[in-house]
Amino acid sequence: MSASSPFPSGRDRAATVTRLRAAGCVFAEDEARLLISAARTPAGLAAMVDRRAAGQPLEHVLGWAEFCGLRIAVDPGVFIPRRRTEFLVRRAAALARRDAAPAGPGQGRPRTVVVVDLCCGSGAVGAALAASLGRVELHAADTDPAAVRCARRNVAAAGGRVYQGDLYGPLPARLRGRVDILAANVPYVPSGEVGLLPPEARAHEPRMALDGGADGLDVLRRVAAAAPLWLAPGGHRLAETSEGQAPRAAEAVARDGLIPRVAHSGRLNATVIIGTRAARPG
Ligand SMILES: C[S@@+](CC[C@H](N)C(=O)[O-])C[C@H]1O[C@@H](n2cnc3c(N)ncnc32)[C@H](O)[C@@H]1O
Repeated sequence: MSASSPFPSGRDRAATVTRLRAAGCVFAEDEARLLISAARTPAGLAAMVDRRAAGQPLEHVLGWAEFCGLRIAVDPGVFIPRRRTEFLVRRAAALARRDAAPAGPGQGRPRTVVVVDLCCGSGAVGAALAASLGRVELHAADTDPAAVRCARRNVAAAGGRVYQGDLYGPLPARLRGRVDILAANVPYVPSGEVGLLPPEARAHEPRMALDGGADGLDVLRRVAAAAPLWLAPGGHRLAETSEGQAPRAAEAVARDGLIPRVAHSGRLNATVIIGTRAARPG
């Protein structure tokens, strides 16, 4: 390229689409547009196209994923937030908005909602809830240091805190009994089915982000067991499962003392188990 050649040229675009198509990218035109808009130089573009053609997920190559209308930073090796999880965010936001609303007209502003995003990965769920609700005290946790680093960037705008460790272990004790929304999009693929996932997930997302044990519900059961200790009276715990897992997941929620409900979105093919701690009488 000479110093005066514009970048990207029509040839850059055509070559990018051709290369992506040859690598098997079904949405080669769309992906080429995104990669070209992210690249600063022809060499940078070539490096990104090489990574994508070698099978890296587009989001890891770009460094971000779109989620609930936000650009969520996603580093290589960190779970990529899925579109279907937007359903969990919408359900959580609707419950929080209802519960935090002032008692009546002219009775002040909605109160601050305490949100915990457990098994937060990139922190997409917490960041989206904060963006949707506005007034939140946001805490997030994950066992994977790469996820924690990523989540810290994504929840910074909301003043969120991110902790590293096993489930509730690293959360500050002062949150016990105060959490209004406990969102936990935990791994829920049965161990025997991890091998059936698309290669992009198997090769580029950590197994601990996907594998939920023999029936896929091991982590979810552990989250459910301790949820009543952390939830505020009337607070809600939300977790995604497959449609087939929903009855067993709802049973676990009920066994642990929460009021279970199953919500499903056909459009997003998403199932969410909601467990609500009984509100204080009167
Ligand atoms: C399916 S990913 C979901 C990530 C994020 N919630 C989202 O929806 O994009 C599950 C996440 O759980 C984390 N994880 C798995 N087991 C964990 C545990 N015992 N304690 C904390 N985090 C865990 C993984 O590191 C991974 O980031």
